[in-house]
Amino acid sequence: MKDQAGIYETLKAKLQNVLPDFEIAYKAEIAYKVLELKQKRRAVILGHAYMEPALYYSVCDFTGDSLELSRRAATTDAEVIVFCGVKFMAETAKVLNPKKTVLLPSLRAGCSLAESIAPKELEAIKARYPGVPVVSYINTYADIKALSDACCTSSNASEVIQAMNAPRVIFLPDAFLAANTAEELDKKISYAKKGAGQTVVFPDADDWEILGWQGSCEVHERFQPEDVKNLRAQFPDVAVLAHPECKPEVTALCDFVGSTSGMARYVAGSSKARFALLTECAMGENVQAANPTKEIVRLCAIRCPHMNAVSLEATLQALQQNRHEIDVPEPTRKRALGAIQRMLEVG
Ligand code: 13P
Ligand code: SF4
Repeated sequence: MKDQAGIYETLKAKLQNVLPDFEIAYKAEIAYKVLELKQKRRAVILGHAYMEPALYYSVCDFTGDSLELSRRAATTDAEVIVFCGVKFMAETAKVLNPKKTVLLPSLRAGCSLAESIAPKELEAIKARYPGVPVVSYINTYADIKALSDACCTSSNASEVIQAMNAPRVIFLPDAFLAANTAEELDKKISYAKKGAGQTVVFPDADDWEILGWQGSCEVHERFQPEDVKNLRAQFPDVAVLAHPECKPEVTALCDFVGSTSGMARYVAGSSKARFALLTECAMGENVQAANPTKEIVRLCAIRCPHMNAVSLEATLQALQQNRHEIDVPEPTRKRALGAIQRMLEVG
């Protein structure tokens, strides 16, 4: 393990164009303590692309998008998994590793998509359309996964839906990811909606091939078509990339649409000089650090409050105080595991 000076040098080499030196020195001190404890506790740290740069580039054993991190969680032999991401990700790790300790550094790390649907609502949808397979986005809690046939992430939604091999699929909860995926697969989409209490309002006609739900990401829903037009007017050479949780009117105007890792790969492999990433803004800093000769247009106002709750400081406290331990009741876990495994099999 590197000493504190070594961690500082590594962070400085990576982040000197992104963070001021005094911040790098301060973060290196905390990262050193995290790494010491990680070794002592035989822990692995998984870091999502939306983590702050100092965390992302110092203490993580693996970084990536939801799918890549689920795969890492499925194969780790560490005794403790610290998930630097949000609760549905830590829950997925726990479902895959029931005997391991899974820690989420902040209880504020939720997700507007995961909150958008309750098991009772999905049960009502399944009762109305018996036999129609349910694909749930990984941004759901374990109780929704337990009622699903398969999960998917933003990088394999089309593949998982096709793997259901069915004329109709229920795909929830993200209305925009569903619309973007339906467009890609050239399928007709309709939506079920929340009614009063936990009742469900169903579409009038039954001619859909994909039935979505009206959940949305509180971060990605903020981007508007005008934002893309303004970006292009201000920076005529810019390549605009978007996450598929953005509205279809927005993604239609972009040069590339893909998962967080898909966007990072696009920037690394492109010969263009300037990029704007319509996604959570910490990712722009991480991609900027990885591509020092390119320019990422910053979007500092678009921060996910849930991802933002997980800092290097919170990660240190998680290891020091063994918090916040994620648990999933065994019957729910067993059923959710089937849906997650189905996704991992599809790819
Ligand atoms: P990815 O699966 O693309 O990493 O996205 C996760 C997420 O929460 C996007 O808001
Ligand atoms: Fe959830 Fe959106 Fe935050 Fe991703 S960015 S964790 S989808 S609220």
